[in-house]
Amino acid sequence: EVVAVIMVGGPTKGTRFRPLSLNIPKPLFPLAGQPMVHHPISACKRIPNLARIFLIGFYEEREFALYVSAISNELKVPVRYLKEDKPHGSAGGLYNFRDLIMEDSPSHIFLLNCDVCCSFPLPEMLEAHRRYGGIGTLLVIKVSAESANQFGELVADPVTNELLHYTEKPETFVSDRINCGVYVFTPDIFTAIRNVSTQRKDRANLRRVSSFEALQPATRSLPTDFVRLDQDILSPLAGKKQLYTYETMDFWEQIKTPGMSLKCSGLYLSQFRHTSPNILASGDGTKAPTISGDVYIHPSAKIHPTAKIGPNVSISANARIGAGARLISCIILDDVEVKENAVVIHSIVGWKSSVGTWSRVQGQGDYNAKLGITILGEAVTVEDEVVVINSIVLPNKTLNVSVQEEIIL
Ligand code: GDD
Repeated sequence: EVVAVIMVGGPTKGTRFRPLSLNIPKPLFPLAGQPMVHHPISACKRIPNLARIFLIGFYEEREFALYVSAISNELKVPVRYLKEDKPHGSAGGLYNFRDLIMEDSPSHIFLLNCDVCCSFPLPEMLEAHRRYGGIGTLLVIKVSAESANQFGELVADPVTNELLHYTEKPETFVSDRINCGVYVFTPDIFTAIRNVSTQRKDRANLRRVSSFEALQPATRSLPTDFVRLDQDILSPLAGKKQLYTYETMDFWEQIKTPGMSLKCSGLYLSQFRHTSPNILASGDGTKAPTISGDVYIHPSAKIHPTAKIGPNVSISANARIGAGARLISCIILDDVEVKENAVVIHSIVGWKSSVGTWSRVQGQGDYNAKLGITILGEAVTVEDEVVVINSIVLPNKTLNVSVQEEIIL
């Protein structure tokens, strides 16, 4: 049997996701109409002999309770949220729950970061891992040399695919192959993590009796039960015939900011075009609005037939879109109202917000820039005929004058 573990982090992480993370844990923010974490979870469903899925994080349990029970029923695979009392790091969090994870004696354990967007080629990785042997296989991708330093950079043997060298977010360029945050391990990973914390304890004891501390500045302040998968496990195990790589040629992105969530919503919508086109809006029927490209509309949303929607638009529950409205590349959250002839482009419109008639909410569409898209937090009112460009508006604000390149606090 196989189990999957998805690391969801907690409220002290994901601060770059504000103001959207003020309302909802980042892993539950909707991309293509489904919670972010839903995409890796449904990819796990394709793993042969999958017994169960765990989410590990330090959010309150009740924040995930509804979603976890709904998705368990839907997929017919038990999905369980495990709450850490404090952050233990990506490997420490896994280790903390080793008894529960090993309950069914799985032969393999998938470990996925919740904040990556890709096609999750999990069955293919498992097959490759079985061929390679060793304790784990990492998903890798080639990125541009300029962007590689935001990730774990690695060197793999071009013939055997063995991981030869690994450096987390290096200051000087190592390689344009990076760690995608998607792994498959054998249960030996737990021994590897235990060894790291044992070494830490030994060092801590040594420090008490000597001035050893000065020699180990990097690990000085880390608690013994805090273990990072990348620096503490992957780096030291590289080049020891223990870890291997599987390179994806498909799409991959990391979702740290609202801008990237808008981009990834589009990537998942276009994936739905191939995997489950029935989820997408068709624009057929006499009362349907004009749809172009990939669009998701929640069944409870009310869209005026003269509205024009798409591409890359996702509209959540109970939203109302008025006559003549134009939506392009945006995420419209629950209970939003977009009034007649309003335009929303390259923007995220927060829960219960309203955009007035003939108003314009727009970003330039640079998903990596701080003000590259416009974001309205929860319950923001944009009055009639107001233009909001490349701005971030915090919750509960009313805009009665036009703004550009501003953060409205
Ligand atoms: N449960 C739990 N507890 N989850 C955690 C903790 C923790 O203490 N710390 C981090 N996570 C989760 C995050 O929510 C995220 O899903 C994942 O673990 C990795 O987060 P970070 O450790 O903050 O690393 P990162 O996202 O900056 O970079 C990692 O992922 C990149 C791919 O997206 C590294 O592994 C990079 O090498 C890699 O390229």
